[in-house]
Amino acid sequence: MASARGAVVSSPPDTTGAVPPLLLGAAWYPEQWPEARWEADLALMEKAHLHVVRVGEFAWSSLEPTEDHYDLDWLERAINLAGKHGIYTVLGTPTATPPAWLTTKYPETLRIDENGRRDEHGNRLQYDWSNEKYRALSRGIVERLATRFGHNPYVIGWQIDNEISQTSTAEGARKQFQDWLQKRYGTLDALNARWTTSYWSQSYSDWSQIPIPKHGGVDSGNPGLLLCWRLFISDTWKSYLLNQINVIRPRADARQFITTNTMGFFQYYDHYITEDVLDLAAWDNYVPDGKVDPVWNGMAHDLTRGFKRKNFWIMETQPGFVNWSGVNPSLKKGDIRALVWHDIAHGADAVSFWQWRSALNGQEQYHGTLVGADGTPVPLYPEVQQVGAEFEKVGALLRGTQVQSQVAVLHSYESRWAIEWQPQSNKFDPLAEMARYYGPLHRATQAVDVVPPNVDLSMYKLVVAPALNLLTDADAKNLIAYVNGGGNLELTTRSGMKDGDNALYPERQPGPLASLLGGRVEQFYALKDAVPVEGDMLHSNASIWAELLSTSSPDTKVLLRYGKSNGWLDGQPAVISRRVGKGSITYVGTILDDAATATLTAHLLSEAHVTPASLVVPDGVEASVRSGPGGAVHFLINFSDKAQTIHLPKAMKDELGSGGKVSDLALPVSGVAILSESR
Ligand code: GLA
Repeated sequence: MASARGAVVSSPPDTTGAVPPLLLGAAWYPEQWPEARWEADLALMEKAHLHVVRVGEFAWSSLEPTEDHYDLDWLERAINLAGKHGIYTVLGTPTATPPAWLTTKYPETLRIDENGRRDEHGNRLQYDWSNEKYRALSRGIVERLATRFGHNPYVIGWQIDNEISQTSTAEGARKQFQDWLQKRYGTLDALNARWTTSYWSQSYSDWSQIPIPKHGGVDSGNPGLLLCWRLFISDTWKSYLLNQINVIRPRADARQFITTNTMGFFQYYDHYITEDVLDLAAWDNYVPDGKVDPVWNGMAHDLTRGFKRKNFWIMETQPGFVNWSGVNPSLKKGDIRALVWHDIAHGADAVSFWQWRSALNGQEQYHGTLVGADGTPVPLYPEVQQVGAEFEKVGALLRGTQVQSQVAVLHSYESRWAIEWQPQSNKFDPLAEMARYYGPLHRATQAVDVVPPNVDLSMYKLVVAPALNLLTDADAKNLIAYVNGGGNLELTTRSGMKDGDNALYPERQPGPLASLLGGRVEQFYALKDAVPVEGDMLHSNASIWAELLSTSSPDTKVLLRYGKSNGWLDGQPAVISRRVGKGSITYVGTILDDAATATLTAHLLSEAHVTPASLVVPDGVEASVRSGPGGAVHFLINFSDKAQTIHLPKAMKDELGSGGKVSDLALPVSGVAILSESR
């Protein structure tokens, strides 16, 4: 820190309630710069219409230079100065980067990696997430921050740590895992039975014998052990977050949210468990290959929105390019604006760039920024400035609006893990299976929720469960109640195979849902070659995976059958469906190509009486809707490589353009339009 440690600037005015409805921002690290430079940076941010900074997240050594000696004055000056520029702060707790004094004095707080080696100072996330000493030291710094900033009017929220992800195989973690197992199973007999430890002589006669799975559980091992280790990791992250939340919450204004920044589809813990204790979901949206894929990006947004089932934040996004991929191409001109609006279209209320300016030294010197090493704007800056101005223009229109969906796609970490541990075909990707359905569903309805299988589903007309391999008793009951209540459920390949301990159900798939379906999976086959699939609805090809289905109930209908294949599958049912009162249950036993998946999806949407979107867009343009008390707001983004014209079903107000009503809309490459129906 080159700044003078002077007096704290005088108390700021109370600005509560003035926070703009849409926020554009950047990660700003004032501790890396002379204090004399702050004003120039903040003025440039203000000029780009940035209204939020993320501050403090890696600053532990500047905040507590030596044990129990704190210096928070500089941070208060930075926050208040930003506030004077109309810029609010999200305050990061600095626990992702423990200082050298800490790791030197308390080496036991360093994690032991998957290969049994103790991590070292100088990177990030080198702490042991289960270590009580580390938690106590974290509480110390967090308490100081919360006491000082819990009522600061410019601080609108808290970000705990940064991209929590690294675990530890230390002895202490192992002991906690054994205790966790004892709580879950009660007796070793129960654990041995649920994990079928008689297989390969794995039975345990003492809790202390139970290992952490080899390599931290990323590859092979007893399926029950692997599952429990990941669930333990998830619970331990939850208590890690709570360790800080319990310090912040009593010291902070209720208006200050508490969040942490997640990483899209990152899978090594169950985010539904950790998000439970947070106020707001937020993720870091990076496009390392420089090309936005609206289906995958949209699905990641909707996944994150599903964590809290409400609007979320983009806590980080790239100013052009990253530095951590093999080749780090920039998004093309115009695509940052398109990407930011894509975030908002799917329910984000804030987007923050990482980062404002690169530290002159440090591990990320090549990463994209908004100003260069010289402190002046980079070529991208005007594009960001444009988006910032647009946020100010349409913020009021979007206040209180949300994505409202008639359809949901189910997502389950446990099912993804179970398949990835025993894939049977290395071509089977559970997320690709999800995207295969998410794409046509979003295209048809322009609003899709992604939620876990244990939540209330009654508001959805159609629920699609791609590869829901692991189904707990409670999940199964929830799905049965949904269908009996008039809901339409579509299960796909590999669903209902395993129970809540990652053991095979002693029934054929879909296990506890088989009797509701009036049918079952007789056998599964990993495919090397494509298999024809045919029926009244379509003739197509299936690949990667095929399940031979059968019906046991006279009212279970066969929608598609396999053509000539490996002999076992020839002429056998591939997709079956049964009406249940006003609802239905469908089982899709194979992976159809994209066109056939779209046809089948259209059929199921129509059977479920899902209202089709009225605004039809050409291929390559994504349309999404947010709705609120003022009506629907449509977002149209041209992700194709040519200009597009869209004929609107009725005249709508062109909010980003002329502000007048339009019936036809011209969208250039990377173009964005926001259209409102009323007003
Ligand atoms: C992550 C981290 C940031 C930064 C970016 C770079 O998302 O949270 O601190 O390192 O990556 O892309």
